[in-house]
Amino acid sequence: MEVITVTDYNEMSIQAAEYIISKVRSSNSINLGLATGGTPLGLYKYMVLDFQKNTTDYRHVISFNLDEYVGLSEVYPNSYHYYMKENLFNHINILDSNVHLPNGNGASLQKECALYDKLIKECGGIDVQVLGIGQNGHIGFNEPGTSFGTKTHVVKLTESTRQANKHNFDNLDEVPTHAITMGIQSIMNSREILLLASGTEKSTAIYKLLQGDLNEQFPASVLQLHPNVTIIVDEQSLSSGISI
Ligand code: F6R
Repeated sequence: MEVITVTDYNEMSIQAAEYIISKVRSSNSINLGLATGGTPLGLYKYMVLDFQKNTTDYRHVISFNLDEYVGLSEVYPNSYHYYMKENLFNHINILDSNVHLPNGNGASLQKECALYDKLIKECGGIDVQVLGIGQNGHIGFNEPGTSFGTKTHVVKLTESTRQANKHNFDNLDEVPTHAITMGIQSIMNSREILLLASGTEKSTAIYKLLQGDLNEQFPASVLQLHPNVTIIVDEQSLSSGISI
């Protein structure tokens, strides 16, 4: 794993944006795996600013998001569909037809999961997957104990994840109980992974990712097996005494 240490969240976001933008500019066709949450907001902000200033072209980009809640309409502000439109897709020239998120409203969720993996494969796989990391080491919605062999699947959200995501909703009852997430195997199939982390609350997770054991109880540890992972972290998230 290549670790790039930066001073703070803003610098992490700038470096991540430069990383993704240079990949987009230097390819004729690229499949990006995208994440939601607080961590990539700065990355998306700088991608949008770059688009406004330099008109970087996204018409050849195909995107696949990691996850989506079950049962939230795409127009509901807390859906990840809405988040992606608000923070990125509405502000760059990516084609609507090239944007993909798991469908948490399908009649058969199992079928939706299988279709998602099939579609990723048919499009040639993911070139660069952007990841955040949960404090408990989750990637996507793959919580501790998830098998490293999982493909896209439906998950029952843990109480701690629902609590962590509660601030976006009016109350805990409104937080969905289930989500669809790309599985750990689906994430590992990406040719390249860019993981971002910022803040002291991520420092234990980053410590375990870099220096802990490979263990399904800490899902992100699977990245130790991936041949092409870049991690951009700020000094606060490296504060658990890591030597790199
Ligand atoms: C988001 C996702 C999650 C987040 C993780 C960190 O699509 O799959 O795994 O990356 O929960 O969230 P933040 O960035 O809000 O700390």
